Amino acid sequence: MTVIDKTSFEKINVDKKNHLFYQQLQAMVELCSSDHSEDTLQKISAFSNAYPRSSHGYALLGITYSKRSFFDAAFINLQKALLLSPIDETALTCLRALLQDRGRHEDGITILERCISINPADPIVWQKYWQSVKSIAYEEYTEATAKRFIKILDKNNLIRPSQIISSIIRLLEKKQNLLEISRIETQSSFNSELKRVISVLLETPLLLRIIELCPIPNIIFEILLRRLRKAFLLHDNLETSNNNYLAIQCSLALHCFTNEYIYGEDKEETQKLRQLEQFISDVVSEGASVPWRHIACLASYRPLHKFNWSRNLKAPVHMTDLFLRQVHHIDYELSLRDSIPSIDLITEDTSVAVKEQYEDNPYPRWVNIGILQKSMTISEIINLAGIRILSNGPDSSNQLKILIAGCGTGQHSIEAAVRYANSYITAIDLSLSSLSFALRQTRELDIENINYLHGDILDLISWENRFDVIETTGVLHHMSDPMLGWRILKRCLKPKGLMRVGLYSSLARAGLSVVKENMGELERPITNQKIYDYRNKILDIAGVEFEKLARYPDFFSTSELRDLLFHVQEHTFTLIEIKNMLNELDLVFCGFETVDENTKQAVSAGGKGPDSLFSLDAWHNFEQLNPHYFSGMYTFWVQRLD
Ligand SMILES: C[S@@+](CC[C@H](N)C(=O)[O-])C[C@H]1O[C@@H](n2cnc3c(N)ncnc32)[C@H](O)[C@@H]1O
Repeated sequence: MTVIDKTSFEKINVDKKNHLFYQQLQAMVELCSSDHSEDTLQKISAFSNAYPRSSHGYALLGITYSKRSFFDAAFINLQKALLLSPIDETALTCLRALLQDRGRHEDGITILERCISINPADPIVWQKYWQSVKSIAYEEYTEATAKRFIKILDKNNLIRPSQIISSIIRLLEKKQNLLEISRIETQSSFNSELKRVISVLLETPLLLRIIELCPIPNIIFEILLRRLRKAFLLHDNLETSNNNYLAIQCSLALHCFTNEYIYGEDKEETQKLRQLEQFISDVVSEGASVPWRHIACLASYRPLHKFNWSRNLKAPVHMTDLFLRQVHHIDYELSLRDSIPSIDLITEDTSVAVKEQYEDNPYPRWVNIGILQKSMTISEIINLAGIRILSNGPDSSNQLKILIAGCGTGQHSIEAAVRYANSYITAIDLSLSSLSFALRQTRELDIENINYLHGDILDLISWENRFDVIETTGVLHHMSDPMLGWRILKRCLKPKGLMRVGLYSSLARAGLSVVKENMGELERPITNQKIYDYRNKILDIAGVEFEKLARYPDFFSTSELRDLLFHVQEHTFTLIEIKNMLNELDLVFCGFETVDENTKQAVSAGGKGPDSLFSLDAWHNFEQLNPHYFSGMYTFWVQRLD
């Protein structure tokens, strides 16, 4: 059902002559937004007849007919509106929603493409576009759909690529020749078919593009990429001058860097890599030039910043991105470390151990982010999240002070800085590697309302700063005493302030404990090599353990897998425990974030009507029946009253 966007009418230019028309139009817009009775329909019809050359009357008629479920009449009027004004935003929005609701997704997307061409900078249209493209159940692979995804990915920072990766995989799985090369049984047959493999990959630019941006949570494509990487390493007599080969190698190297070399390597590869490293180092020290394919090949196993010679090479244009991400970004992050102020020394045992983990493996290593959204007031954010607060929330007439406690590598702080209108963000974390990654990205995106601080949540105990909103997702459960951390954060919250919290669910993570029991613990200290070996052992065994893990996208990159299975400190909770903690903290549960309609109905049906959505008991009952629902995390809002 279309919700009328009154702002599109506010953009209409009014001169004095049109004053009467404008007044009447405003009255009609009000009427149409609040009511769709027969009487309203007649009034809007009369208005439309009085101004037959204006698109607005037809657009409003279309909306009213649509609300009254007279879809044919709605279509006719919306089309009339668009004939008069092909850029009538209200008519376009309503027509798209109508098409989408009637299952005509493709037509709906075509309308959105028209909206984009009319207004390419409008973030809302882009947002609707990726949501629509993503949600179609594709029956076959088509170039048109692949191009749509590329268009979305090319619009850097429109969304986190991980938000559309599953849809892209579902589409690519329908591409017959890609499936065929993914199913080649052995490495040696793969090597002998390399030419065919390359030509299929060259005609699948969507795969090459997405692998540069995020890990691929799919084992079939993982096997393809592993084989490809090994084939390039073992066959260094491949055509040397072929830039197409090099382009694929660069995508692959960017992919392996992004998943933090989660594929590991076998003995044959390690031996060959030793020779390759030696060869490159000798050639460079003689002042001769190394074929670029060797550098790209090495970069798909080792990050180039590890090699001093990488700073002296002048990369060709098509390798700029590879050098940028594997060398220059890392050097820049190192140079930023000292500029991040510290709150205090980190001394508590668990915090020290957790810090070490995230210094080794900053989490997560991301490329693009979802920031092309409209910034919103706090009430808009509350509405969108679908939560209910009990008394007036933070006062948005002043600049909102927001604390991100445990900001990681900055996705969280940057998205918050863009989402909350008129806000100033303080973001703290234990890990300097994560913070310098976050600071680099923040500067590159020209975001100026974030202050990064190095420190422990425990250090905030003596802080005088108070915040309107505190967000802490995926953090408290890594403290030795989560309740203490939570209490300290509550102290930093202003009265009526809001907190957005993410905690692990015991039920959803029960499968992981079984995997750990079956596979045995990893001996500490945890190293990346041990993680790769452990993971490869799981893949060799395949079967149940792998299936449990493959549900988690975290299985497909090193820092995320370390977070998933080998964290130095992890607590999990039931909703009843959370309810008790909230009682003790005197915080009010405001609801889970963005719950889909089916779930809302299920929770309401199992409890006492719609109010159940704000009862942790009702959610607990729901979770018992749907144990995987919170497999990411419980993400909910709470409010401080006093
Ligand atoms: C799993 S990451 C989550 C990052 C981010 N909140 C997000 O949702 O993407 C956990 C982060 O919390 C930080 N962290 C854990 N315990 C902390 C503490 N006691 N004080 C500050 N940061 C902490 C870690 O360093 C790590 O970067």
